[in-house]
Amino acid sequence: MNKSSLTKCPHMLHGGDYNPDQWQQMPGMLDEDMRLMRLAGCNAMSVGIFAWTALEPREGHYTFDWLDRVMDQLAAHEAYAVLATPSGARPAWLSHQYPEVLRVQANRVRNLHGGRHNHCYTSPVYREKVQQINSQLAERYQQHPALLLWHLSNEYGGACYCPLCEAAFRQWLRARYQDDLNALNQAWYTAFWSHTYTDWSQIEAPAPQGEGFNALHLDWRRFCTTQTVDFIKAELAPLRRFTPDIPATTNLMGTYDGLDYWKLAPVLDVISWDSYPLWHHGNDAELAAEIAFVHNLNRSLKGGKPFLLMESTPSVTNWQPYGKLKRPGMHILSSLQAIAHGSDSVQYFQWRKSRGSSEQLHGAVVDHVGHEHTRVFADVAELGQMLAGLDDVVGSSVPAEVALIFDWENRWALDDAAGPRNDGKKDYCGTCHQHSVPFWQLGIPYDVINMDGDFSRYKLIIAPMLYMLRPGVAERLTAFVRAGGVLVSTYLSGWVNESTLCFLGGFPGPLREVLGIWAEEIDALGPDDSNTMRFADENTLGLHGDYRLHTFCERIHAESARVLATYTSDFYAGEPALTVNTLEQGEAFYLAARSDAAFLSDFYRTLAARLRLRPALPTVLPTGVTAQRRSDGQSDFIFVMNFTSEEQAVDLGETCYTDQFSREAVSGVMTLPGYGVRVIVR
Ligand code: GLA
Ligand code: ZN
Repeated sequence: MNKSSLTKCPHMLHGGDYNPDQWQQMPGMLDEDMRLMRLAGCNAMSVGIFAWTALEPREGHYTFDWLDRVMDQLAAHEAYAVLATPSGARPAWLSHQYPEVLRVQANRVRNLHGGRHNHCYTSPVYREKVQQINSQLAERYQQHPALLLWHLSNEYGGACYCPLCEAAFRQWLRARYQDDLNALNQAWYTAFWSHTYTDWSQIEAPAPQGEGFNALHLDWRRFCTTQTVDFIKAELAPLRRFTPDIPATTNLMGTYDGLDYWKLAPVLDVISWDSYPLWHHGNDAELAAEIAFVHNLNRSLKGGKPFLLMESTPSVTNWQPYGKLKRPGMHILSSLQAIAHGSDSVQYFQWRKSRGSSEQLHGAVVDHVGHEHTRVFADVAELGQMLAGLDDVVGSSVPAEVALIFDWENRWALDDAAGPRNDGKKDYCGTCHQHSVPFWQLGIPYDVINMDGDFSRYKLIIAPMLYMLRPGVAERLTAFVRAGGVLVSTYLSGWVNESTLCFLGGFPGPLREVLGIWAEEIDALGPDDSNTMRFADENTLGLHGDYRLHTFCERIHAESARVLATYTSDFYAGEPALTVNTLEQGEAFYLAARSDAAFLSDFYRTLAARLRLRPALPTVLPTGVTAQRRSDGQSDFIFVMNFTSEEQAVDLGETCYTDQFSREAVSGVMTLPGYGVRVIVR
């Protein structure tokens, strides 16, 4: 049985963005590319991503001959096409003929033609033109053996503020508030500053020179996601009609702020994302833990199904502050890192470096020199061979007992709140990531879910700054704890409802029962301020001593909760900083202040031991080394990765593993060179 989500291909995908449309004046290039692809062990190419003009140079006049040749050649070389719809950038004729497709900025200035990712998602004309070209593509290649997967557009993002979009926003609001303007006024608290609307037509999208309060902005962001999803559905309709069995994806952008990816995931068959870490700039292990968080998020977006690494650079990017070269080992390490967390591919931007224009200096598999005798090509080819040895891993999952809640709407609500700190330091993303680092270091897998996720699958749920609670979430978290789950919650939780109205009667609002505390007020500290928490003797966690606190210190009262640690300074010295509440079978921790990594590391290490969370490897890993596990029910594939530049030793003990590539038996002390990786099977 083929476990992959891509029924046609039971192998790891290896390849990337391929733009033969840029090289049509150079006959022979296609053959040369095919030769090089075989040498590099590539089997999947993303074609047509920005090829609209090459496919439709004049309205309704199609030129598919070049793409026919590419598709045929790929098939002849037993490779696949990840075939793109071209809507990410449009032909000049389209913008000039139909100016309504041009995006309007928040200040209500309409863009000129240019760049990419800048169309109106609402425009009926744009949707019609996209559907026409998508229909042509789908009809033409529906039976083509090379067609593996649809790549919808490219990195959907941004918002349009044109009259069509504003009208659609008003319609969306009418549906959301069931045609009851009074309900909207109450939800948005428009009595404040006399903002009450008396007619739907008075509502405008947020604008720098107009309205922009938090509740309006939150609904606008929700609408932008809905409209993008609606546009994706329009793109998909012709593809589904002609190719009902070909799955579709779109390349996501990590923790991109502009769209709620939890809402995009259901319309996609496969999740994929574009990853561009800047290695060797700061601490590589810290960066690896951050990227691990995003890989885990992408795996979790469809409940643990493998995702695809759709873009990564084989060498440098041209848009980061520095184009630092990947040090020897890093290309293979960072690529296998994606696989370790659940990717079934390593894809690049781009195959061949473009000769001119915006991205001519971006890394590529084939450099301007044009041949295979480069360091980068050798790295890619070596990885290609390794990926060919990972068929067993395709389709396998990453079983996790821990989940971290990362919720886009909560992030938006926090970001838009004026206070309690306005220097960007609420830092929702960074804080969620910080809570995940100890698990990366321990080699304990975790999922990243949103507040609507299924909590019952986990032993431990971590919910940093759950400021906004949608209806029912507090009840489900409470039920999770009652049933024996462990919840970790922090300062700034349970402040507002889904339309940003504050909960009355004491924070953390509906979480008060499960957490057993009342949060009376919060102290937002300046950059040079700090406090300390000290553990009580004989506390149930067995932690001792002092830990530094900063940024936010909440003054809380333990109601039914027990106090584990208290503040040591300022006027609230002696008051609780960490509590735990027992509710039936489970426990709910409340961390009232932001701590350094040292506390989170000790705290989660203790919880992991108490809950017997299963690490990928039952051993103590050196700093900067992690182990991640994929499992197919029979075998565990363990990726042991060294993100330091020094050699590291990992003690495997008595257990005997098999090296996935060499098939040799491995046990005892295993060494990893700097930036080294081993895949061992149990
Ligand atoms: C994004 C885009 C690509 C390319 C790369 C460059 O991920 O999808 O088209 O611009 O960035 O890093
Ligand atoms: Zn618009």
